[in-house]
Amino acid sequence: MIRVMFVCLGNICRSPMAEFIFKDMVKKIGKEKEFQIASSATSGEEIINGVGNPVYLPAKKELQKHGIDCGEKRAVRLSAEDYDRYDYLLGMDSMNMKDMEKITGHKCGGKMVKLLSFTGKNDDIADPWFYGNFDKTYSDIERGCRAFLECVAP
Ligand code: 4NP
Repeated sequence: MIRVMFVCLGNICRSPMAEFIFKDMVKKIGKEKEFQIASSATSGEEIINGVGNPVYLPAKKELQKHGIDCGEKRAVRLSAEDYDRYDYLLGMDSMNMKDMEKITGHKCGGKMVKLLSFTGKNDDIADPWFYGNFDKTYSDIERGCRAFLECVAP
């Protein structure tokens, strides 16, 4: 079993998009039983009185454009324990990576890296919450997920 946690700031745009894009990819190659896939936030911005907000509508719509359903996913926060629970903790940008170090108490590198590092370029995935452009977000995440999948299930 390969356990994968995608992480972003709010867990309502990029990391849930990555979670469901990656689930779809893994399903298409018949390997869904070999993976446990989740996503979480570094911040509590989208969790109100313990209840996480649903996936942001433009992110949900972008997924639907590609035939992907994100179900009833709601934002949850990354915990220190997740570091041991997951084999890969994949952040979207450099700020996520710094926050992930603080939350987990572990240095980045090894199993805790940026998603796009698997493409050979360690770029950030820009936050569409601030910058819009959900189709660019989708294609960046899709590229990252494809490269990651090639790495773990060649
Ligand atoms: P995400 O986008 O990290 O891609 O889910 C954001 C969503 C909400 C906030 C920040 C980023 N926020 O501050 O509420």
